Formats: sequence, structure tokens, C-alpha cells
Amino acid sequence: MTTKRPYVGKAKEMHPTDDPSILMMRFTDDISAFDGKQVDSLKGKGAINAAFNQVVFSMLENEGVKNCLIDQVSMSPTDYRVIALDMLPVECIVRNFSAGSFCKRYGVDKGMVFDTPTFELCVKSDELGDPFIAPNAAVALKMITNEQALWLEFECQKINKLLTKFLGDTGLTLVDFKLEFGTAVADGEWGNVKWKKGDLMLGDEFSPDSCRLWDETGVSLDKDRYRQSLGDVLDGYNEALELIR
Ligand code: TMP
Repeated sequence: MTTKRPYVGKAKEMHPTDDPSILMMRFTDDISAFDGKQVDSLKGKGAINAAFNQVVFSMLENEGVKNCLIDQVSMSPTDYRVIALDMLPVECIVRNFSAGSFCKRYGVDKGMVFDTPTFELCVKSDELGDPFIAPNAAVALKMITNEQALWLEFECQKINKLLTKFLGDTGLTLVDFKLEFGTAVADGEWGNVKWKKGDLMLGDEFSPDSCRLWDETGVSLDKDRYRQSLGDVLDGYNEALELIR
């Protein structure tokens, strides 16, 4: 049974629909940083991120990366039908350059290029501060299976290649990003999209909230503008959106 109450996250809401295999994902104007310690509302952010996510998830689907996005709920710039997933309790982070917590953790400067992109698994927990976890510890704690651990790294590296090329062609440098995955809660079908209960796929979203993107002069067009007060947040998000569509 699906609950009839929406799940309200920090930047999105998940609403049940009449079909238990489908949810409605609403991108909200809320923005947060530092595990929810800094929060604000930026009018129009939800619509920008929803559009950004649609461009990226559609490109990934066309390239064979199964994901939760079904289609836009008519007339609404922020609402999308998505496949209902049981989310894995981990976040997957891929880095092409040093930035953010990587620099703090290892005492290195921002902007080092990685010949081999790094893959990190983190526990999804604001309370614990989303700590880094070794894949075999996540398996030992039964957060994911061993097969899922191997698949997640493979899939994230594949997605990174696709995103780096796609965004790079528009002049954007993909510095790092976070992805989340889950398994379909039930068999389902919408239009010509079909899925089976248990199918493991990309969920959540990809937007300037969940990645670092630099323009050709190295200016951040992502949530670092908010975290570090680097300039008008939505001007940066809009510029990134205009470049990719
Ligand atoms: P980090 O450098 O703070 O570890 O972040 C790495 C990438 O993951 C960066 O693109 C931002 C993204 N991210 C999220 O989307 N949500 C989070 O909760 C965290 C910690 C990072």
C-alpha cells in the first residue's frame, strides 16, 4: 500500500497518485545547504531544476540509462510523473575535479583534474552528515547488496561519461555530482514506458542543486553560489539551463 500523504524533502515533494506504481515529483523553490542547516526559498528555482532534470534524464534514457522520469504533468512547470522507487539509503558521488568536501578531506586545492574519476558512496543521513562509507561496509550493514555495489559504480562511471560529453558540448565543465538509485515498488506501465517490480534504476534528480558546473571562465553555475554566496543563485542556474536546451 502506498501512503496517501506526500513525502516532503528539502527541495522536492513526492505525491502519491491513483496508481501505486507512479508518484508525482514536485520540484520546489526550497534550497538548503550544510545538511539542512541553511535554508531559503528562491522563487522559480523549482521550475528551473525541473526543466534541467528533464533535459538530462531524457538524454540519459535515450542513451540507455534507465531512470524514473516518465513525463511532465500537463501545464505544470514543476510536476513530473515518475516511477515509484524504494530508494537505496546511499548517495553516489562522482568527481572529475577536486572541489567541496574532497578538498577539505584531503587538504588539496580546488580544480585538480582526475584522470580517473572518483566514485564515492555516502550514507544518506543528514543527522550523520552523509558520511563516506566503503562499499563493503554498506554491504555489511545491508544497505545494498554486493551486486548493487558493483553495478552502482559501473553505472555511475557510465553516466559520468555521458554527462561530461553532453554538458561539455555546451561549454559546461562537470566538476562533480550526486546520484541516487532505487528499485521499482511495483510492475507498471505509462504510455510506452514499462517497468517491473524490483528493477534497479536511477531515481531522484540531476540539477544545479546536485552537481558542480563551471562555465568556460570557471564561474560556478550551481549550488556553490548559494553555499558560498558567489552571486545570484538563479542567474547561475538559468544560465546553465539556457546552455543545455
Ligand atoms: P561534496 O563536495 O560536498 O561532497 O559534494 C559533492 C557533490 O555532491 C556536489 O556536486 C554536491 C553534491 N551533493 C548533493 O547533491 N547533496 C548532498 O547532500 C551533498 C553532500 C552533496
